[in-house]
Amino acid sequence: MPDLAAFYPILKPWLFRLDAEKAHTLTVKMMTLAHKIGLLQPAYRGEQKPVTCLGLRFPNALGLAAGMDKSASAVEAWGSLGFGFVEVGTLTPRPQPGNPKPRLFRLPEHRALINRMGFNNPGIHSAVDRLKKRSTKAVVGVNIGKNFDTPNEAAVNDYLYCLKVAWPVADYVAVNISSPNTKGLRDLQGEESMRQLLGALKTEQSKLTSEHGKRIPIVVKIAPDLEELHIQALARVFNEMAVDGVIATNTTISREAVKGHLLENEAGGLSGAPVTARSTEVIRAFRELLAPQIPVIGVGGIMCGQDAVEKLRAGASLVQIYSGLVYAGPGLIGDVLASIAKSA
Ligand SMILES: Cc1cc2nc3c(=O)[nH]c(=O)nc-3n(C[C@H](O)[C@H](O)[C@H](O)COP(=O)(O)O)c2cc1C
Repeated sequence: MPDLAAFYPILKPWLFRLDAEKAHTLTVKMMTLAHKIGLLQPAYRGEQKPVTCLGLRFPNALGLAAGMDKSASAVEAWGSLGFGFVEVGTLTPRPQPGNPKPRLFRLPEHRALINRMGFNNPGIHSAVDRLKKRSTKAVVGVNIGKNFDTPNEAAVNDYLYCLKVAWPVADYVAVNISSPNTKGLRDLQGEESMRQLLGALKTEQSKLTSEHGKRIPIVVKIAPDLEELHIQALARVFNEMAVDGVIATNTTISREAVKGHLLENEAGGLSGAPVTARSTEVIRAFRELLAPQIPVIGVGGIMCGQDAVEKLRAGASLVQIYSGLVYAGPGLIGDVLASIAKSA
């Protein structure tokens, strides 16, 4: 049976000739089709190492990062490829088209991407309807955000709305306050804003837990562009509010690592190899500052198995990938899972 991981090196030059967003849409369509007709193979057949985290059992420590499957259209296919968890979204209360195209750029010399997608998504209801019918062993996280036209003063209502709608289908909910592509969103990472937002979400979490008889963990996804004092302040808030977990990190607005590149001045978040080291530093800092029961999920520039192992060594309990998949293809899933198994 054909193996997608083996095919990717042949497909990649063709895909890289297409506009980056078109290539992405095409790849996900091909993958979904391959899954439907039973052609998708797990990228790793060795020993799996399940992880218990957030009160959930993950078949393995590797997840798909948010943004790759914004609409929850392919969770079964991602699960078949071998991911232990899939984070869908970011989803907003109402559907929205996102920013004008082009809005996704490759920087192959740096194994990096710049994106300013702007939360293009079909709205939380549409994704939740899909997730109701899902059949996958992978844990499914629902990443939530605010609509672009919701002012920051009212942002909490968007998050509360999405939390309520996602509750019946989500295994965990990720609160995205770190995307650089929604105006003012990252201001919600301010200490006071964070305390208010988390306070409201924790109250709603308790209410929904008693209403549904099931508790859904809430994790917060943060940016890599935080000063040390800011990280300390946020860790204090996360400990105080007993957040269930922290995802570190989102894309960076820094262009330090890609200085002089033709696309350096494209607005948006930079991801891939240029964020590997910084994201690991942020993971390490949060691991040291957070209470031991609050796990860190590590993401940012995992381009090979060893990068994942380093994030786990820095204190991450789970890891996620996005840009590495674009450059290495599904073979990266096997590489990461094999490296994790070996590193034990
Ligand atoms: C095209 C693209 C779209 C993304 N969209 C989202 C998103 O909607 N929500 C989110 O929390 N993160 C989003 N991300 C950030 C990734 O989830 C991840 O945190 C970041 O890219 C760093 O990981 P990587 O270097 O493995 O890509 C996006 C990243 C890319 C490249």
